[in-house]
Amino acid sequence: MKNQDMALAEQAKGILHQNWLGTATKPAPKLYPHQWSWDSAFIAMGYAHYDQAKAMQELRSLFRGQWSNGFLPHIVFRQREVKDYFPGPDYWQTERSPEGPKPHQAATSGIIQPPVHATAAWHIYRHASDKKVAKHFLAELFPRLKAWHWYLYRERDIDNNGLVYIRHPWESGQDNSPMWDAVLNRIQVTREMLPPYRRVDLNEIDGSHRPSDRDYDRYVYLMVQARENKYAENHIQKNFPFLIQDVLFNALLVKANRDLAAIAELLGQDAQPFQTWANKTAQGMNSQLWNAEKRIYQSYDRASQQPIPISVAAGFSPLYADVPTHAQAIQMLKTFYDSNFCGSGSWTVPSCSRQEAMFDPSRYWRGPVWINLNWLLIQGFENYGCYHEAEQLRQNSLELPRRSGFYEYFNPDTGAGLGSANFSWTASLVLDLLLKEQAADQAHSNL
Ligand code: SER
Repeated sequence: MKNQDMALAEQAKGILHQNWLGTATKPAPKLYPHQWSWDSAFIAMGYAHYDQAKAMQELRSLFRGQWSNGFLPHIVFRQREVKDYFPGPDYWQTERSPEGPKPHQAATSGIIQPPVHATAAWHIYRHASDKKVAKHFLAELFPRLKAWHWYLYRERDIDNNGLVYIRHPWESGQDNSPMWDAVLNRIQVTREMLPPYRRVDLNEIDGSHRPSDRDYDRYVYLMVQARENKYAENHIQKNFPFLIQDVLFNALLVKANRDLAAIAELLGQDAQPFQTWANKTAQGMNSQLWNAEKRIYQSYDRASQQPIPISVAAGFSPLYADVPTHAQAIQMLKTFYDSNFCGSGSWTVPSCSRQEAMFDPSRYWRGPVWINLNWLLIQGFENYGCYHEAEQLRQNSLELPRRSGFYEYFNPDTGAGLGSANFSWTASLVLDLLLKEQAADQAHSNL
């Protein structure tokens, strides 16, 4: 590894060390001071390269928060009394669900995040220095992963077409994406309809880089609606204003099912159910989420039964899960390169197409570059043999933190770091990208 890369890898490890809470890793020093679901999965993939025990601990700790119905919450809180984050356990009131955490268990939120966990578990095994211990770990986690995926298909595949819905913008991981604007605008909310609350995120971060207050009111409204329905999906489904079949969530689920099938095979268990789920969701995506005219996948607004005609970087994520045919993939690359999705001479990949009117280079998921999306797309390009494109994107993804630091997201015009500094998944995924380079170097020198 080059000296500058070694230095970058050491910095990344230092950030994970600083954000370690004792049993898990917080996503960011102050902005996100508890354990987050998909963050932990990405973080575990970084640890897997140099500290197998911590990688396993990260996922074990997260699954402590799993509900009795398989639901895997998006936050596991460090304690019940929470002042350093909004909304804390007092707002989620998960005790309203008979399946929620019991008083002696860790407090959690009442929404989920994209299902990257089987992928992280399989990644830990593949990179494990002690395969025997890693296999025991997989055997321990397997029933929990199965329960998590089964929850998604049992409770959230509303049309039985393999497409799982999300019921809160935070469940997408892309909180304030322009994809949700029209849906959220239909929801009429006044402050009197909401419990009193104060945003804590703005203590840390410039408000122009975060979701707006108007968005936050709707986030709180949707949280209250779900808790009033006691988190029972069969009630929530009836006339919830925000029900989305999201591209990124479903693409990650396809990949996670394939990885769960690999885990099942290793453990001598039946892998077929997970392959069947993967294929069903992939088919659902191709029939409902593919926009042939725009040559990209787009999410579907299940509440109003119409596609959401907004192109975002996550629209390319099906490449990562091998969902498109080769012909579709070629079309997608045309969108990526020909139609000014990324713009010329700027940092890639903007989280929202530059051609969308709502593109904003500094506001959270409305334009900034996120390293986890880049990480997915690098693998997506490789899946379809586009090694040159993958390598360009990898270099770009390393150069951003090298120049600006391990930020949460980056301005695609200037490369400046935005949101929280010392962000854990930026560190862990940079480590993964660097160590991949090292493996490639070694393969090269063996030629
Ligand atoms: N990303 C959300 C936040 O900003 C919810 O997890 O708090």
